[in-house]
Amino acid sequence: MVVPESPLMRYFGVILILCLLILSSAGTATAQATTNKTELVALNTILGRWGKSANSNWNISGEPCSGWAIDSTDLDNNQEFNPGIKCDCSYNSNKTCHIVKLKVYSLDVVGSIPDELQNLTYLSNLQLAQNYLTGPVPAFIGNMTPMQYLSIGINALSGPIPKELGNLRNLISLGMGINNFSGSIPDEFGNLTNLQQLYIDSLGLSGELPKTLSNLKNMKILSKIPVDSSFAIRCGGARSLTAQDTTVYQSDNVNLSAASYYVTGITFLPVGTFIYVPVMHKDFNKYSSLILTYSDYTNS
Ligand SMILES: *[C@@H]1O[C@H](CO)[C@@H](O)[C@H](O)[C@H]1NC(C)=O
Ligand SMILES: *[C@@H]1O[C@H](CO)[C@@H](O)[C@H](O)[C@H]1NC(C)=O
Ligand SMILES: *[C@@H]1O[C@H](CO)[C@@H](O)[C@H](O)[C@H]1NC(C)=O
Ligand SMILES: *[C@@H]1O[C@H](CO)[C@@H](O)[C@H](O)[C@H]1NC(C)=O
Ligand SMILES: *[C@@H]1O[C@H](CO)[C@@H](O)[C@H](O)[C@H]1NC(C)=O
Ligand SMILES: *[C@@H]1O[C@H](CO)[C@@H](O)[C@H](O)[C@H]1NC(C)=O
Repeated sequence: MVVPESPLMRYFGVILILCLLILSSAGTATAQATTNKTELVALNTILGRWGKSANSNWNISGEPCSGWAIDSTDLDNNQEFNPGIKCDCSYNSNKTCHIVKLKVYSLDVVGSIPDELQNLTYLSNLQLAQNYLTGPVPAFIGNMTPMQYLSIGINALSGPIPKELGNLRNLISLGMGINNFSGSIPDEFGNLTNLQQLYIDSLGLSGELPKTLSNLKNMKILSKIPVDSSFAIRCGGARSLTAQDTTVYQSDNVNLSAASYYVTGITFLPVGTFIYVPVMHKDFNKYSSLILTYSDYTNS
């Protein structure tokens, strides 16, 4: 039996197909990955506390894991994408994004390291260098175990360096130089067996480097001299000096202030006797000095 096809039924058929098409395209739209809500709230709170807003190419008011945060735009060396994040949206069958990089670099941020940071549990790269962060480095950073690159140097952070940082077994690079810490480098740093770069110049610390650092077999750069800082060379001082290796340094009683020569790498190292004068940072009014003695100096 043939059912007669009425124009009305054909009309409904077309409507039905249209509805299905709209539904399926809406389905793909909702399949767009979204940022983990806890991380979204933490990110907005942190940037809000620091008074920083995002570049228009990065939609922080809505979905932060969008635009530059998920395309191939470089974050590390991109001045326009600062503050900035990168997300990994492959979680939960490509439906959930986690924030894996956060950069707030050299933006004159005044404040402390906020508690909300501990909710960015997927961070593997945190770049907070060259701001005016004060207060302690929170121990919870030691729980952020995916961390590979942690940069908090050139700030005004104080208090002891938490031993919990020694839990960051995936850490490859740790920059914390030019701060105002007290105490000494924790022995636990010897547990950072993947560490390749450690920048700990002018920390404000006293004491020796822990012997446990000799466990760090992957270490390529241990910087106690800051990159891009001025230094002055003194040969001798008011009296003649004899170094441990019996090199005699003549008296040379010149009053030294910050030199105009800027080190742009750490390859200059073993040349003469350095009295190291760090760059004055904002209203830091404290000089510290690091004296290295080498026999085969070629400069004066
Ligand atoms: C966000 O991620 C955290 C850590 O993985 C998880 O505990 C939490 O349930 C997630 N929140 C949502 C809303 O998915
Ligand atoms: C930002 O996200 C919101 C909410 O997801 C959305 O309504 C808005 O169109 C987005 N803006 C841009 C520029 O992508
Ligand atoms: C997630 O996305 C990637 C890249 O677009 C794709 O190769 C992969 O098959 C997707 N995985 C799932 C579970 O959809
Ligand atoms: C972290 O996220 C949880 C769940 O969203 C929230 O209850 C808690 O207050 C957050 N912690 C901080 C320190 O912001
Ligand atoms: C980490 O280092 C400390 C001090 O060097 C040591 O006592 C401790 O056992 C180490 N922890 C682990 C889990 O290896
Ligand atoms: C450094 O920390 C000490 C306390 O440990 C404090 O008295 C001093 O003001 C701090 N200096 C700077 C420049 O923040």
